[in-house]
Amino acid sequence: MLEPRLKKQTSPKPPANPTAFSEKTILLCISGSIAAYRACELVRELRKRGARVFCLMTESAKKFVTPITFRALSGNPVYSDPFSETEDWNIIHTDLADRADLILIAPATADLIARLACGFADDLVTSVVLASRRRILVVPAMNDRMYTHPATQVNLGKLLEMNYEVMKPIEGDLVCGRTAIGHIPSLDAILSRAELMFSRPNSI
Ligand SMILES: Cc1cc2nc3c(=O)[nH]c(=O)nc-3n(C[C@H](O)[C@H](O)[C@H](O)COP(=O)(O)O)c2cc1C
Repeated sequence: MLEPRLKKQTSPKPPANPTAFSEKTILLCISGSIAAYRACELVRELRKRGARVFCLMTESAKKFVTPITFRALSGNPVYSDPFSETEDWNIIHTDLADRADLILIAPATADLIARLACGFADDLVTSVVLASRRRILVVPAMNDRMYTHPATQVNLGKLLEMNYEVMKPIEGDLVCGRTAIGHIPSLDAILSRAELMFSRPNSI
């Protein structure tokens, strides 16, 4: 299927008062976590603050929330296939990477964190991240044992070394039945962290 030209996509409605997000282009990358539905609320909140939001989904993410939901909420096409054609033959991953003010990865699975830490470019999300030098905010969400596993902790450490911003998940009721660390942080916390990042240079 042809992806529409990136140029023609929806601009945000300007909010009554300008915010740190006004006119900013945010690539919201969603991976295959049970917390994927929280990304729906994030899209709404970002748009309310005046951001232009493009959603990128891993293949696993589509098993949790359908692309049509993000299409409707963002007002823009949803991207997940790096090999899909655009009308004007743009290379999607480099084109998206160039236009981002912020790449927000929420929720970030243990798997995606591992792939990012190793510099993989085996899907659209990892390819865009690798092709970008813009601000990157990683918001992990997973089972507590996955989060505290040495492999995940080493991978998160690598992301920090590469100047990615990484949020700490919070303690909460996990889908596995335990109350423990691994829950995605609140929307307010994510938005505040993103806002803070806009006060710093636009580069990793
Ligand atoms: C019901 C269910 C919930 C899951 N929730 C999470 C999660 O919150 N965090 C996580 O890291 N993996 C979770 N997984 C495992 C990921 O979906 C799996 O590792 C997948 O390969 C991730 O792919 P992606 O990183 O490309 O999105 C879950 C799997 C299932 C079946």
